[in-house]
Amino acid sequence: MRLSGRVAIVTGGASGIGAASARAMAREGARVVVADVDEAGAKGVVEEIERAGGHAVAVRADVTRASDGQTLVEQAVARWGGLDVFYANAGVPQWKTDVEEVDEATFDRIMAANVKGVFLGAKFALPVMKRQRRGVFLITASTAAIRPRPGGQVYAASKGAVVTLAKALALETAPFGVRVVAIAPVATETPMLPTFMGKKEVDAEGMARYVATVPLGRLNKPEDIAATAVFLASDDAAMITGSCVEVDGGRCI
Ligand SMILES: NC(=O)c1ccc[n+]([C@@H]2O[C@H](COP(=O)([O-])OP(=O)(O)OC[C@H]3O[C@@H](n4cnc5c(N)ncnc54)[C@H](O)[C@@H]3O)[C@@H](O)[C@H]2O)c1
Repeated sequence: MRLSGRVAIVTGGASGIGAASARAMAREGARVVVADVDEAGAKGVVEEIERAGGHAVAVRADVTRASDGQTLVEQAVARWGGLDVFYANAGVPQWKTDVEEVDEATFDRIMAANVKGVFLGAKFALPVMKRQRRGVFLITASTAAIRPRPGGQVYAASKGAVVTLAKALALETAPFGVRVVAIAPVATETPMLPTFMGKKEVDAEGMARYVATVPLGRLNKPEDIAATAVFLASDDAAMITGSCVEVDGGRCI
């Protein structure tokens, strides 16, 4: 088991990529804090993990609130004695909209979840990891940071910001043996997907349009990202820091 004895926090852990990552980390032996604003969803993921013989706890946390971020990290450390992995995965999408139609509230909401949320996670998790002189801080960015699609400019900018944040934090924490890595998924089959497609639900037209842009000919499953997160969190990735790992079937080529 690649994460045996490790303690991990996964934000946005109630659904999609976060839920798959929490399950995968638990399967690899980590004790996992499943954090989300959706407390019922987080509890559901914890129950699945426990049924499979793993260890997890659900915590209601809004990543845009400093007090929630601080409590989240403190609870993990108090319960399990340390913090080895923080996966800053929670995020919100953007409806395809021309820039002149984007209001300030939309900009603020996307930046709060996708950028401030990651910053606050780092602010509270990294001091613990620096003291321990070990730890891995992962961030879910997006291929939108590298190869945006039209009409998602605020989302793309938010993901670009955290790719740069990962590099800056990697330099800051490398002397302490701590690694920071961003993951850039192409469109992934989660509840967020229809919004990116500008649809209420994914339909054949939307799917065909997106799949046509991916050389490997399919979108991500949440498990594709979870497998990457487990690898990056493990000692197998000991020399990877500051990178943005594209999980995109070739979309960004
Ligand atoms: N689905 C895609 O196509 C795709 C592609 C690239 C990147 N991403 C990124 O992957 C990450 C996970 O998204 P997903 O696709 O699994 O979507 P999802 O909607 O299935 O999951 C997102 C989770 O984040 C939680 N969340 C949202 N705001 C929060 C907040 N303020 N505090 C705590 N939790 C919050 C939601 O409740 C939800 O459980 C996001 O950062 C997203 O931007 C998604």
